[in-house]
Amino acid sequence: MNALSRSLDDFRELMRRDQVFDLVNRSARNDTVDMSHGVALYLEGITKSFDGFRALDDLTLYIGDGELRCIIGPNGAGKTTLMDVITGKTRPDEGSAWFGSNMDLLRLKEHEVAQRGIGRKFQKPTVYENHTVFENLELAMHADRGIMTSLTWRLSGEQQDRIGEILELIGLTARRDTEAGLLSHGQKQWLEIGSLLMQNPRLLLVDEPVAGMSGQETEATAELLTSLAGKHSVVVVEHDMDFVRSIAREVTVLHQGSVLAEGSMDQVQNDPRVREVYLGEEE
Ligand SMILES: Nc1ncnc2c1ncn2[C@@H]1O[C@H](COP(=O)(O)OP(=O)(O)O)[C@@H](O)[C@H]1O
Ligand SMILES: [Mg+2]
Repeated sequence: MNALSRSLDDFRELMRRDQVFDLVNRSARNDTVDMSHGVALYLEGITKSFDGFRALDDLTLYIGDGELRCIIGPNGAGKTTLMDVITGKTRPDEGSAWFGSNMDLLRLKEHEVAQRGIGRKFQKPTVYENHTVFENLELAMHADRGIMTSLTWRLSGEQQDRIGEILELIGLTARRDTEAGLLSHGQKQWLEIGSLLMQNPRLLLVDEPVAGMSGQETEATAELLTSLAGKHSVVVVEHDMDFVRSIAREVTVLHQGSVLAEGSMDQVQNDPRVREVYLGEEE
C-alpha cells in the first residue's frame, strides 16, 4: 500500500460517524487551554482598521505562561483595541490570535473567551455596590447562575476556603462584610480583581489599574499583581511609569498599532525611538 492510499484509509477511518462524533465532542469540550509550550498568548500579524485608520498594524506579540507583561504606549497607540481583540470584543481584519496552542480566539464569542480563562478588568471598577465584599466574590464564583440562585446556594467548605484565600490576596479580609459601595476606589479595584480571580483565569488583562489610586494603594496593587504572576499570566496596560517600573520584568511599547520596542524597563526607556515617540513626550 502506498503512502497516499494509506493516508486515505486513515482519513476514512477518522471520518467514521462514531469517530467524527467523538472528534466533534472532543473539540466542543476542549476548553482546557494547552500551555505546554510555555506560551499563553500568540498574536500574529494582527491588523484592525477603523474607517481606513489602522489602530493595529501587523502587530505580533507573545505572552509567556505565568508572565507579568506591561504594555505602554502613547494615547491612540492601540492598547485598548489590542485588549478588545484578545477578548473577542473586536474582530481584527487580518492576523491570528491563539490562547495557548489550542484555542483560536478569533472563533470564540466574547463570553466564550471569558469562559475559557481570559479575565479582563476594565478601567472603571464594576462591583455590586449593594452587596458585601464576601457576597461579591460569591457571586463571581457562580457567574453563570443568577444572583438569586447564587446567594441562596450553600457554599461548600472548599468554596468558603477559596473565597477566604482571595480575600487575603486582595487585602480585604477585614472588610469581608462591608458593602462594596462603601469601599475606597482602590479597594473596589482590588475587589474586582478578586472577582475575576474567582473564575480562576489563566490570563488576566488589566487596563490602567492604578489610575486614580493613592500612593499607598498603588504600591499594594503592584504587590498584588506581582503575586499573581506565575500562577496566572498577567498583561497590564498602564500610563503610570513609576508603577510600571515597580512591577515590570518585560515591557512592550506600542506605537501606531505595532510593537516599537520590547525589553526591560531600562532597555526601553533608553531606546532612542521610544524616547522620541513616548517618553520624550513627557519631558
Ligand atoms: N471603535 C472605534 N471606532 C473608530 N476608531 C477607533 C475605535 N476604537 C479605537 N479607535 C481608534 O484607534 C486608535 C487606537 O485606539 P486605542 O486602542 O483606544 O488606543 P490606546 O488605548 O492606546 O489609547 C485611536 O486613534 C482611536 O481613535
Ligand atoms: Mg486605551
